[in-house]
Amino acid sequence: MLAIRLTAEPERLDTLILPVRPGAADDAWAESVPTAVALPDGIADEVAVLIPAARSRGRAGDVHTQVRPGGVPRRLLLLGIGGADEAAWRTSGAALVRAVKSETHVTIALPVGVAPAAVRGLIEGLLLGSYRFRLGAQTDPPTLTDVDLAVTDPEAYEQAVNVARITARMTRLARDLTNMPASVKNPRWFAGQVAEAVADLPGVTLRVREPAQLAAEGFGGILAVGGGSASGPRLVELDWHPADARTHVVLVGKGITFDTGGISIKPVPAMKLMRKDMAGAAAVVAATLGAAALGLPVRVTTLAPLAENMVSGAAFRPGDIVRHYGGLTSETTNSDAEGRLVLADALAYAVAELNPDLLVDLATLTGANAVALGTRTGALYSDNDQLAEDLLAAIRSAGESAWRMPLPTDYVEHLGSDLADLYSAPTQGGGSVLAALYLREFTGDLADRWLHIDMSAPSWCDRDDAELTRGATGWGVRGLLRWLAALD
Ligand code: BES
Ligand code: MN
Ligand code: ZN
Repeated sequence: MLAIRLTAEPERLDTLILPVRPGAADDAWAESVPTAVALPDGIADEVAVLIPAARSRGRAGDVHTQVRPGGVPRRLLLLGIGGADEAAWRTSGAALVRAVKSETHVTIALPVGVAPAAVRGLIEGLLLGSYRFRLGAQTDPPTLTDVDLAVTDPEAYEQAVNVARITARMTRLARDLTNMPASVKNPRWFAGQVAEAVADLPGVTLRVREPAQLAAEGFGGILAVGGGSASGPRLVELDWHPADARTHVVLVGKGITFDTGGISIKPVPAMKLMRKDMAGAAAVVAATLGAAALGLPVRVTTLAPLAENMVSGAAFRPGDIVRHYGGLTSETTNSDAEGRLVLADALAYAVAELNPDLLVDLATLTGANAVALGTRTGALYSDNDQLAEDLLAAIRSAGESAWRMPLPTDYVEHLGSDLADLYSAPTQGGGSVLAALYLREFTGDLADRWLHIDMSAPSWCDRDDAELTRGATGWGVRGLLRWLAALD
């Protein structure tokens, strides 16, 4: 991760970044922005000439590079900051870090009186836009290691810098976990990664249930889905329990380390990226570690049911009836509807044993999420208007996207089974909605304190785009952390 430092006395001015904002009129060239620290002599005049020459309009993420052989600075970059709010700075930071990846050190002269939220956005953009997942040697490794942010009063930004660093670090952790090939990332490995992260965080406890314990306690959904794999399932239970906590949140995340579809096997194109099917688990784990690293005064218990949905002689079959934690049963006519089976156990366990104030689950649950909402937006479900509004607001201000979807009462009948309490894979259509309705059946008395997000679509992206990088996005970590930080 890049080293980012705030300083009132920038020392190295080799590569200097100057923010520029849009001019007053629509079609005007950019304007320079007064900076917090003094610039080398002559630079301000040079920028005034450079802006029209570079045809800079100052939009967030526009970058123009001027090479000045032998000069100080030796490279001058004009960085468009658009509306200069947190989101614009996030975009600018990500664009900048791509433009300077072959430098080693850069200094950004921030505007006079720049807001802490803007600095937060900038740092998140820098740290997320420079993320890369690669096993083995890189052909063109980036060389940038240090970014100095020049401001008059570094202390004023300590909190914003800390929050941005931890948010980015945890988002990057979720990306790492999700990008990792499934040959490495089996349930035991995932649980081991969580244990390593917890070792650095006093105050967080971890319990990992192995198959024998899952059987003893009746986690039939997790065992059915994990039964076909040579790598047995696990249930990760993390707990951040600060003494001053007033609210207890339980987070649940789908952790299918690879989804072949099982006996109801997926076709090749649909299976290709199914190592990402644990992105919900990665997001809730990373958000919980982030809450602990920030010392947020809220209790967070996190459940990550981990299993690999494989095809084998031991795999569960379409038509099997699964008995979940707590006793509800599911008729499983399609083994590709596996996520809801493991989540059902975890939700039922949370309701029966953990007594939370709020219950939130994240899951790469259905392809229907993208059909309804496209590639960047999660589908959010809750009967609780306040909870839905709060979480939506947190998600949006963190730079992620979700849209609230309905839980129509008259669809509930599609969940009826002749043989069991519930039918796990109704075929009536509205796949994301029906999956949400199925999950609600396991939330018992907490149904109106529960919220579910189907994040199949935004968990992955196919190209670099602002702070997102190709591959896993770490979606949900930023929104959850912001929401947890705002709870009292
Ligand atoms: N993991 C998939 C959902 C998925 C699809 C995630 C595309 C990310 C991208 C899930 O387990 C699944 O297979 N869902 C089925 C449900 C159906 C069998 C009721 C689906 O969406 O087709
Ligand atoms: Mn599936
Ligand atoms: Zn799945």
